[in-house]
Amino acid sequence: MSFKQNAKIKFPKWPISDENEIKNLTDVIKSGDWWCGSPGLHQGEHVWRFQEEFAKFQEASHCIAVFNGTVAIESALMALNIGLGDEVIVSDYTFVASASAAIATNAVPIFCDIDRDTLVMDVNKIESLITKRTKAIIPVHLAGNPVEMDVLMEIATKFNLHVIEDCSHAHGSRYKGKRVGNWGDAGTFSFQASKILTGGEGGAVICNSKDLADKIYSYTDCGRIINGYGYKHDTYGTNYRMTEYQAAVLRAQLKKFPAQHDLRNENASYLMEQLNQIDGIQVMKPTSGTTELGWYVYPIVFEPEKFNGLTKSKFYKKLNRAGIPTDDCYPPLHGLECFKNIVLKKNIDYSKANWGNTKSEDINFPIVSDIYARSVEFPHEILLASKEMLDLIVKFIISLKKSD
Ligand SMILES: Cc1ncc(COP(=O)(O)O)c(C=O)c1O
Repeated sequence: MSFKQNAKIKFPKWPISDENEIKNLTDVIKSGDWWCGSPGLHQGEHVWRFQEEFAKFQEASHCIAVFNGTVAIESALMALNIGLGDEVIVSDYTFVASASAAIATNAVPIFCDIDRDTLVMDVNKIESLITKRTKAIIPVHLAGNPVEMDVLMEIATKFNLHVIEDCSHAHGSRYKGKRVGNWGDAGTFSFQASKILTGGEGGAVICNSKDLADKIYSYTDCGRIINGYGYKHDTYGTNYRMTEYQAAVLRAQLKKFPAQHDLRNENASYLMEQLNQIDGIQVMKPTSGTTELGWYVYPIVFEPEKFNGLTKSKFYKKLNRAGIPTDDCYPPLHGLECFKNIVLKKNIDYSKANWGNTKSEDINFPIVSDIYARSVEFPHEILLASKEMLDLIVKFIISLKKSD
């Protein structure tokens, strides 16, 4: 059979649901408890139960559920008192939210270049970015791949910096035996529709300090105190509560997660073995010390000269046309207009930032700029496909070497 005929076979679609999501949602509607309430005014069961279940799954003492992964980062920053003019070191290769959450607290993100093999923040570059204003580091476990957290934590301890791990891609990842999100002060998660654990939208912060958990909770629930009177608001807070609907779906999805995670890992290794044998293809390398990997997306870096000079967009469009879902990777943050043009907020001194005008040029971020120009990613659902389907991907990529 030619490749084209095979490519008609459909790759799995995400998200995957069954009668359990429907039952949980129907139960919420029928119960009349359409929100979680506050601890003093306990309503519904799904948000409270999900917090316990997700904390247990991530092996953390506390979990605060919120309505998306962006506000999860913002809530952790606010609870750690990171704000006006404080500098926060963030990976340059991530979704905009990892840095825009810092802007929301009036802090200044500082971008850190990546490691060329693992595609995550290069911990050897962190120290050179630290100034008197630096207050925190936000490592992003891109595509589930853990940042070298032991080295990063040594730097954070030495310079007295807070650490918020952005685990939006890394549900279930483990570095040196410890689940990500437990290395720093807090770990944040996204449950947006494309994520490997999803409620359509959703987010959470995990941590292992009761004091910090109380502060995060308070910020996300109108400045309330856990089990306090509902109209007592001791500190500034907003309303970032997760809905019962989100939690109802997430609880059903969490039950499916372990089997999907195992299959993704098995298929990721199978695919990696074959793709890495193709001259000119390099799959994202798991960080040394990774003991489990969440595999949110599956990034590969290719060498255009080994593929007849194909540009990146042509490369992934050819895959798409053959029925293989493939996408561009995140444009590095230093080049995004919102940072490049520095028209953000008044009265905040962005002059010390390593971005803005000429500082945003690619030459200042050499690794990420080179990698971005040559990287594409497969969505995680391809890792739920059969081995036969994975073989088709390999076969098609090899065939691109011959095409014009
Ligand atoms: C690395 C990273 N951080 C944060 C977020 C923000 O999550 P959300 O979309 O749930 O706000 C995302 C979402 O895609 C992400 O990929």
